[in-house]
Amino acid sequence: MTVKSRLLELLEKNKGETVSGEAVAQELQCTRAAVWKAAKSLREEGYTIEAGPNKGYRLLKDNNRLSAEGIRSYLNNRDVFLKIYKEAESTNQAAKQAAVSKQAGHGSMILAERQTEGRGRRGRAFYSPEGAGLYLSIILEPGETLQESLLLTTAAAVAVHKAVQRLCNISLDIKWVNDLYLNNKKVCGILTEAITDFESGNIEFAVVGIGLNLYEVKGGYPPELQGIAGALYPNEEAASGVNRNHLAAEILNTLLEETRNLSLSPYYIRHNIIPGKHIQILDGTRTRRAYARAIHPDGRLLVEEEDGTETLLSYGEVSVCPES
Ligand code: BTN
Repeated sequence: MTVKSRLLELLEKNKGETVSGEAVAQELQCTRAAVWKAAKSLREEGYTIEAGPNKGYRLLKDNNRLSAEGIRSYLNNRDVFLKIYKEAESTNQAAKQAAVSKQAGHGSMILAERQTEGRGRRGRAFYSPEGAGLYLSIILEPGETLQESLLLTTAAAVAVHKAVQRLCNISLDIKWVNDLYLNNKKVCGILTEAITDFESGNIEFAVVGIGLNLYEVKGGYPPELQGIAGALYPNEEAASGVNRNHLAAEILNTLLEETRNLSLSPYYIRHNIIPGKHIQILDGTRTRRAYARAIHPDGRLLVEEEDGTETLLSYGEVSVCPES
């Protein structure tokens, strides 16, 4: 790692606080001149770092750039592949390429400030304007079969829920299977994609793509998302107190914890708004009504159809009926 990367990691860890030049040089095991040069180069990249002969170095708190060093400073396991694109077509696509080429393994994460072809479930697009959300994909090598992959998705919903609760103090609603809502608006979508071994049926690796809307951009959402999409905060200013690097790291740390022994977490059931409601199921192009009974231990949704029979849903879009 270069002096510049290590300096950024150290300043991110102590964001808002001054670290003396001597302490930095000692920690990074280099000269004070090398530290000065690295700080200058970071400033040229756009980081706001205060520095002075007797003042030490301070990364300003309102500095909210995504950086691998910033994320790494909050990770439980720092030894993973991290990559941040200013712009990517889709971080899921980039993550799959990185995993297939063996560049990135279990626990690696790829992020983008904006996506030009962000992908959602059911072939939909995911609106990903610059800086207004966290658009990230995590690579997992879970050693599970495809049947168990639904639990990766429920674990991802739990990871985002817990991270947002801890760092933003906002309690979201989980809507089966893995959408997160705030005040009846969708603020986070998750797309899990798996590459399987044809013979064993085991998942070689899974890519968990998470799109979390932090704030609503000026001018609002495109017409097709109005009234449907929402964000954690109403505008950029309100969201500026959230350290995006910390939030991304918290999601990754929590997802790795949640997937260590894969099972349906009681936390997922507790925060899920679907069981006990009359729902509408969108299956392909057809919709039907049913009553959501419970979430099965494998993550499927147990519903009572209108004719009284029971079905276990493993995918499909559900929404709560207004009178429910
Ligand atoms: C959905 O709600 O339909 C799922 C949306 C998933 C969006 C995320 S953003 C990061 C990752 N990259 C993508 O192209 N999609 C996922």
